[in-house]
Amino acid sequence: MAKELKKQFGPLTKALLALGALLLLAILFFLFVDTPDDLSAGTTSKEKIIKMPEEDFDKVENGIHVATGFVKDEGMHLVIQNCVGCHSAKLVTQNRLSAEGWQSTIKWMQETQNLWNLGANEEKIIEYLAKNYGPVSRGRRKNLIDEDWYELK
Ligand code: HEC
Repeated sequence: MAKELKKQFGPLTKALLALGALLLLAILFFLFVDTPDDLSAGTTSKEKIIKMPEEDFDKVENGIHVATGFVKDEGMHLVIQNCVGCHSAKLVTQNRLSAEGWQSTIKWMQETQNLWNLGANEEKIIEYLAKNYGPVSRGRRKNLIDEDWYELK
């Protein structure tokens, strides 16, 4: 009886095993073939921050970094690396703060929004921000940059 069963199920078992192995191979194949995307998931690669081709990412027009809208100046790349992962660059560029103001905004984000320790870069980042996005000191306020007017209905 047992021998007969073995005879009957032997080929079936083999076929199932072969199928299983094939399936496993297929899964492995897809896992590995798909990794280029997955590998960058944990990094702050340029493509991840802003979906655009690498060669366009560095484009600067009229002193403005096109991809993000940041003013091209020393420290800009540090700001791009650290400040546009969680929210848009616009949230940064629409603000006008003194060095102290930027410092406390960063501190606030670190304490409440999981912003990481910026280490030695913090000084350079604050310097860049205060210089290019500092308070407008006197007279009338700066013209509104955001001209996304919408019609009232
Ligand atoms: C880990 C995530 C994270 C990173 C990285 C980050 N921020 Fe933020 N930031 C936030 C969150 C969350 C808010 C609140 C957003 C909202 O209100 O929609 C915020 C708000 C802000 C605001 C608005 C504050 C206000 O008073 O409304 C500014 C300005 C800002 N961030 C600047 C920066 C700058 C500059 C950097 C780089 C040094 C940076 N952020 C990096 C999470 C982050």
